[in-house]
Amino acid sequence: MTTATTPSSATLSVVVLAAGKGTRMRSDLPKVLQPLAGKPLLGHVLDTVHQLAAERAVVVTGFGAQRVQEAFAHQPHLRFALQEPQLGTGHAVQQALPDLPDGGVCLVLYGDVPLAPAASLLPLVAEAQAGALALLTVELDDPTGYGRILRSADGAVQGIVEHKDATPAQRAVRECNTGILCAPVAHLRRWLGQLRNDNAQGEYYLTDVVALAVADGVPVRAATVTDADDVLGVNDRSQLAHLERVVQQRAARRLLDAGVTLADPARLDVRGALHCGRDVFIDVGCVFEGEVHLADGARVGPYAVLRDVRVGAGAVVHPFCHLDGASIGAGALIGPFARLRPTTALADGVHIGNFVEVKNGTLGPGSKANHLSYVGDATVGARVNIGAGTIVANYDGANKHRTVIEDDAHTGSNSVLVAPITVGAGATIGAGSTVSKDVPPGKLTVARARAVTLDGWTRPVKKK
Ligand code: UD1
Ligand code: CA
Repeated sequence: MTTATTPSSATLSVVVLAAGKGTRMRSDLPKVLQPLAGKPLLGHVLDTVHQLAAERAVVVTGFGAQRVQEAFAHQPHLRFALQEPQLGTGHAVQQALPDLPDGGVCLVLYGDVPLAPAASLLPLVAEAQAGALALLTVELDDPTGYGRILRSADGAVQGIVEHKDATPAQRAVRECNTGILCAPVAHLRRWLGQLRNDNAQGEYYLTDVVALAVADGVPVRAATVTDADDVLGVNDRSQLAHLERVVQQRAARRLLDAGVTLADPARLDVRGALHCGRDVFIDVGCVFEGEVHLADGARVGPYAVLRDVRVGAGAVVHPFCHLDGASIGAGALIGPFARLRPTTALADGVHIGNFVEVKNGTLGPGSKANHLSYVGDATVGARVNIGAGTIVANYDGANKHRTVIEDDAHTGSNSVLVAPITVGAGATIGAGSTVSKDVPPGKLTVARARAVTLDGWTRPVKKK
């Protein structure tokens, strides 16, 4: 056996078990695709695999195999091994064995244990590279359902017994198997070939390799995690909800430590990456998705949803805004009740008020659309005032067209700008106008019927 005697140079392969159905989730979605903080459970595990710089990563799929594979098709280095039927965790690892380079070590992770940190896994890898079988264990107040770690009087690990196979005395043990282990590939190949399924569940248990290692005289090392949340598995919705809170509390904690003021750390959801400058304030109930950047002194009011947004220094997002794929300049004021849609770019000092929607539009410095407007596919210059109720009619029923509004133009309340048109610099459009051709610069353009007053008209009166 050459593997066990080539410490630290042995290559690392990771096998992620993800074939189980997740019956208790009561979902059509394979369990490992259920989102945690906006990312599939398996995505969290694969992020960790990435941090470990593994030479090879094999995901064992079964239930919903195609969907799982499609969800990670953008990671071309990943390999997938199909386990069909699913005969247990030992059988699952066996399906990945043909993909593992000889002479290396293999770390087994679980697709439904999303938070195991690389820092807890690296010591296991080092132990395996030194020839041992290394386990990650956890002390649980309620170990029901978990495999129990069996130790001899001198504390040496002797084996693992599954809850369903355990005697009452064994069930009293609180040290549990997290499922995560690491061993030289050559040993694993031999041990997995020796597994039997004569147990309570009729499965090939990966956990049985521990007793086989002991019988072989291979050292077994167990490391115990200090934070049980790191190794909790997701078997049902309440465990998923629990881990969601764990992730969110950790995100809030990181923000607080970085100097962000959170009105309530328990009422914030980060489903992606939130980058904050100094003295940022975030009120309650906000959701951040994708990549969000809040520059120095930015303030986000309550119940705002921001996805892939950049907010400039000192800008204020008032309550109840939905901002998606937009960039917002320094000192801008947004909302309340504003909607910004993808590719919107607002320069410094822009004001977007209540019930204003901007789509694929740019507004230059100091421009304002304060009330009840739709600004779609528009290029708006500097210091433009878009009057209340202005609609940029960008869609002719078949195609979308662009509108240009040059610097210092004012559009009157309730005006409709039928694209494609250009409103010249400094032009004013009278309230209630519908304009469908270019508006000359510097002049007042009005396109509405004149008011008429009828003499001698009387109001109808109700018939008796
Ligand atoms: C397993 C461990 C148990 C440990 C617990 C920790 C075994 C025999 N038991 O039990 O000691 O305390 O995890 O959470 O290993 N899977 C497959 N193919 C299969 C069976 C399972 O890929 O044929 C996958 C599942 O999708 C899941 C993982 O392996 O990601 C664990 O399977 P599960 O059935 O949840 O094992 P437990 O009974 O929880
Ligand atoms: Ca489980």
